[in-house]
Amino acid sequence: MRKIIAAGNWKMHGTRACVSALIGGLRSKVPADAGAEIVVFPSFVHLEHVSELIAGSPIRLGAQNLAVEDQGAFTGEVSAPMLADVGCEFVLVGHSERRTLYGESDALVAAKFEAARRHGLIPVLCVGETLDERERGTTEEVVARQLDAVLDSSGVDALAKAVVAYEPVWAIGTGKTATPDQAQAVHAFIRGRVAQKSDTIAGSLQILYGGSVKGANAGELFSMEDVDGGLVGGASLDATQFAQICTAAG
Ligand code: PGA
Repeated sequence: MRKIIAAGNWKMHGTRACVSALIGGLRSKVPADAGAEIVVFPSFVHLEHVSELIAGSPIRLGAQNLAVEDQGAFTGEVSAPMLADVGCEFVLVGHSERRTLYGESDALVAAKFEAARRHGLIPVLCVGETLDERERGTTEEVVARQLDAVLDSSGVDALAKAVVAYEPVWAIGTGKTATPDQAQAVHAFIRGRVAQKSDTIAGSLQILYGGSVKGANAGELFSMEDVDGGLVGGASLDATQFAQICTAAG
């Protein structure tokens, strides 16, 4: 039985005061028995602060990005050992904003995935097609290419301690959510592709949907067979909305 995950990607938002209020709100609104795994992904500079704020709560910590290297002369970069040291358990790799705005290739994403694993972090591998790719009918091809880059370099066993997030680029921050059926179709495709290499790992792999998830649509999305929760951007910055999503996930 796969546990549902409600993951909040805060992107480049917040001040120390805002994140304190947000965690305070979540701690009071999310029932202790929500049943879902709850993970927040603050900016690097807020990780340590949030790690203190969530102590003793079921909320877990993740980072939004990491370097491939473990240490050295890489100005501006943050490594997996640094993230583990401040209490991160998860890290996003290959978010579409990293792929499109910062030119992260499939090969670089695969190397970041491996760097996370090396240090015991759980990588959340983000995959998804653009609107143009969907309209050209190449959704599965794109998602397969992004997934295979990791399967080929790390092997299927690596997915035993990883999460996949399907995030159609056209649904991110646009208010246009994929329909539950559209999400289910791609999630089933991802699980099927992993199953070609290992049925067991495919069966236990948590696959999140991301792209304009809100309190109002989370329940319907998470009820689909292969949708194991959500990676939530905008709505995760609002404690009431995110608490609703966490409750739907439970
Ligand atoms: P959104 O972002 O929920 O604001 O669409 C999702 C994401 O980018 O992870």
